[in-house]
Amino acid sequence: MLIRQRSSSEPLGSELTSETVYQQRRDLLKAAGLFGAAAFFSPRSYAVTPPYELVKERASAPKFLREKIMARRRSVNSTGEVVTPFDVVSTYNNFYEFGLDKADPAELAGSLRMEPWSVRVEGECAKPGNYTLEDILRPHVLEDRVYRFRCVEAWSMVVPWLGFSLADLIRRLEPSSKAKYIEFTTLNDPVQMPGQRHGGLSWPYVEALRMDEAMNPLVLMATGVYGRSLPPQNGAPLRLIVPWKYGFKSVKSIVHIRFTESQPRTTWAMTGPSEYGFFANVNPAVDHPRWTQRRERRLPGTIFNPNWRDTLPFNGYAHEVASLYRGMDLARYF
Ligand code: MTE
Repeated sequence: MLIRQRSSSEPLGSELTSETVYQQRRDLLKAAGLFGAAAFFSPRSYAVTPPYELVKERASAPKFLREKIMARRRSVNSTGEVVTPFDVVSTYNNFYEFGLDKADPAELAGSLRMEPWSVRVEGECAKPGNYTLEDILRPHVLEDRVYRFRCVEAWSMVVPWLGFSLADLIRRLEPSSKAKYIEFTTLNDPVQMPGQRHGGLSWPYVEALRMDEAMNPLVLMATGVYGRSLPPQNGAPLRLIVPWKYGFKSVKSIVHIRFTESQPRTTWAMTGPSEYGFFANVNPAVDHPRWTQRRERRLPGTIFNPNWRDTLPFNGYAHEVASLYRGMDLARYF
């Protein structure tokens, strides 16, 4: 029998979540189960090359969303790297509201009701209120954006998201001069989200950006992937994508946006402050206390080829974003 050896730099299952979450859910994570079947895909997956194949829209997607997607600005793969196949992007997920296992969201997120969907906007801005998803999307032209996506757990993908720049939405909402941060909150509904019934993280899931970060044109409000609307497991119908930060900043299924003067208390920074910082910039020079961040496994990999590669500062987007952090000690503000 073949037994896979763990290299010294490779995270254990127990290292992939905060200690608290791991302790509370260890029966779910059973004996390094996180590195089980779901983590490895057959070499056939490598057949997908740029630009990438589009995926069929789900029949139930709202008409206005389908029309917006059809009318989007199209682009090819801007990273020039092999795009991760849709079957990996949509089955290897972190969405703890639907369980801790990577396969849980694809299996359980079908219970998420995406219509009607609205987002409450409040705080330091001139245009607070309740916006339907259609209100939010109406003035924006959607576009394809192929981004590298790096998880704090040291795996990565290249994903063809689609959406529009958060900066354009922020301008519409007219933040006041007091707005220093923008906070995003995921739906809190234990009936629809079984993972919320059992504790684990403190719900709802909250993430935030400093305003200058949020205004960077790379930050995407994503409504789709692979030329179709987001599957629920990927954070439908509206999620954030911040490509130079670890994946946990990219909050899913957003129902609440708030402009604040002080730094919001964000879920992972509260859960494990010594492990998950507010900034969460991808930084190979600053290791997670329990594993290295110097390298990442690019999915899909196989048991014979885990596909390790070096992690790039700011996930390869330094040219666009490093100036946001000029003068900051990034080991302290990690
Ligand atoms: N958002 C919510 N609401 N709940 C989560 O558990 N997980 C985060 C982020 N956004 C998470 C979330 C983490 S850790 C990652 S790596 C990405 O979503 C995963 O996004 P994906 O499943 O679309 O790849």
